[in-house]
Amino acid sequence: MATSTSEPARRRHAIDLDDFSAAEIMEILETTASMKEVLSREIKQVPALRGRNVVNMFYEDSTRTRISFELAARALSANIVNFSARGSSVEKGESLIDTVRTLQALGADIVVIRHSQSGAPYLVAQHFHGSVINAGDGRHAHPTQALLDLYTINERLGQLRDLQVLILGDVIHSRVARSNLWGLTRMGARVTLCGPPTLIGPAHYWTATWPEVTVSHDLDAALAGANVVMALRLQKERQQAGLLPSLREYTRRYGLTPERLARIGPDVLIMHPGPMNEGVEISPEAATAPNAVIEEQVTNGVAVRMALLYRLAG
Ligand code: CP
Repeated sequence: MATSTSEPARRRHAIDLDDFSAAEIMEILETTASMKEVLSREIKQVPALRGRNVVNMFYEDSTRTRISFELAARALSANIVNFSARGSSVEKGESLIDTVRTLQALGADIVVIRHSQSGAPYLVAQHFHGSVINAGDGRHAHPTQALLDLYTINERLGQLRDLQVLILGDVIHSRVARSNLWGLTRMGARVTLCGPPTLIGPAHYWTATWPEVTVSHDLDAALAGANVVMALRLQKERQQAGLLPSLREYTRRYGLTPERLARIGPDVLIMHPGPMNEGVEISPEAATAPNAVIEEQVTNGVAVRMALLYRLAG
């Protein structure tokens, strides 16, 4: 399943974490710490990517990922252009491949792409001479989200190896879950996936790729022993699709409610990639608890993306 898009000596693309070694992930986390130091300065900018052109190519909505790539590129002194499918020649029928060729002709060095179709970044990589970073494609992957999650966990808990991480909710449709599975297992963490059977699928779907992963449909049992709980956004259309009896029932069985928050204790990290449905998969109390690191995840996203841009353009 691992599709190698990297070169051994120098990585060209970042499309998923499946082809990142533990050593490379650790190097990126270390570079992220240096980038955080840059961002703590009064002048939050270094000349590392001066003269490079980065294009943010977003075919799907985004707040965190798009803005943090923009801030990251600016902090490295790159030129950054934001391209949205809406308002572009895509609306006149221009294909993804022709759009990428056009951006290349305009001088793009790095393309950051978000697309609703799984695999779109691989297609772009085949037609673009520079570097491609996946900012989220369909259900497939969201590698920079996983990297910022790994960084946040490691920064807070001082390790990744042997931690027990619970990924909770709509796992089957989640690109965040898939990229985190690659990253967490490669770094030696133990992962449990928890949610209703309709949003997890058969256990062997996961264990065929990640044999060490466990699957649970009982949240209260799965919370015992967890060091990190990563709640995922419930896409409300799942109820219309008949995958859930009701949102209230979902929250009762799989929500991070105030009662569960009280039970898990103050040392367990509460994470969420955002955007959140407060009151559904996570209560406002859990989202703002002292052990919730949801805003730290967002903050760390800028430094992680700086580290990755630096590595690809370096
Ligand atoms: N976590 C995440 O990808 O958020 P956005 O959709 O706001 O970029």
